[in-house]
Amino acid sequence: MNKLSANIDFLNKTRVKVDEKLFSETITHTLSYLKKEGQYVLSVTIVNSKEMQKLNREYKGKDAPTDVLTFPYSSEKQEDEPFIDLGSVILCHDICKKEAEKRNENILKTYALLLIHGILHIFGYDHHRSKSEEKEMFSLQEKILDTLCYDFITDMKLMKKCLKEAQSRAYTPYSHFNVGAVVVTKDGKYHLGCNIENSAYSVACCAERVALFKVISQGYKKEDIVSLGCITSSSNIGTPCGVCRQAMAELMNLKCPVYIFNNDMDKKLFTTVEGLLPYSFSSEDLFAK
Ligand code: THU
Repeated sequence: MNKLSANIDFLNKTRVKVDEKLFSETITHTLSYLKKEGQYVLSVTIVNSKEMQKLNREYKGKDAPTDVLTFPYSSEKQEDEPFIDLGSVILCHDICKKEAEKRNENILKTYALLLIHGILHIFGYDHHRSKSEEKEMFSLQEKILDTLCYDFITDMKLMKKCLKEAQSRAYTPYSHFNVGAVVVTKDGKYHLGCNIENSAYSVACCAERVALFKVISQGYKKEDIVSLGCITSSSNIGTPCGVCRQAMAELMNLKCPVYIFNNDMDKKLFTTVEGLLPYSFSSEDLFAK
């Protein structure tokens, strides 16, 4: 049973579109990384630099905008309160944008890092106190960000193009059922796989496993894999077979996104490895005493 639940009270006061899912997933992941249990709620607000400057002046006595402000409320359960109300994290879109450009990274990644930073403050971490605490907090926030399974990398337009290319390479003289698969790795590469059949039918290998095995055999590790996409020549959404699901559960992070398309790409299913194969068998079961 999952003993952690995190709710977000989200408010975006800018005109810029942002995916609320990123913030809620970041909160859940950070709390679970910190091994927290219980029911939490955190308010996250996105503001522009003018409003941030005002808040920083009023509450912190600094007349300048800043990237993130944290207003901790509570980090432990209060009597008669069903939720642990962590308080509020305010993020400034304009400063986030500048920081993301400086680091040459996706703004969503900067948002996630700053939100993690704010949550760590709520739990008592403070980089202002000493050099060693600064080192501890900064390295922890990087580790949490690194293990957050949010897809900052996959470009859906490129994924679709690569899927069609992969599918066109299918070797299917027997079934004529063409499947394409693409694995995206953290270095931004798209690795293509297709199904390869054989006159001895059982020798055939599915596109998903061809792509995955290709990636692993090149030296990539589980942590390097960002996402997997697949397409079949069906008008339905043909989801990966059981054998491929088991291979994915071993070689990919269970939270990794999986993007599935039908042949015309007018139907899609976006899920995760765990979504395709809950309760999968793993080495943990094999070696359990
Ligand atoms: N196939 C895949 O490539 N992936 C799947 O997940 C399901 C099936 C292939 C295997 C075979 O070449 C053809 O589709 C018909 O089963």
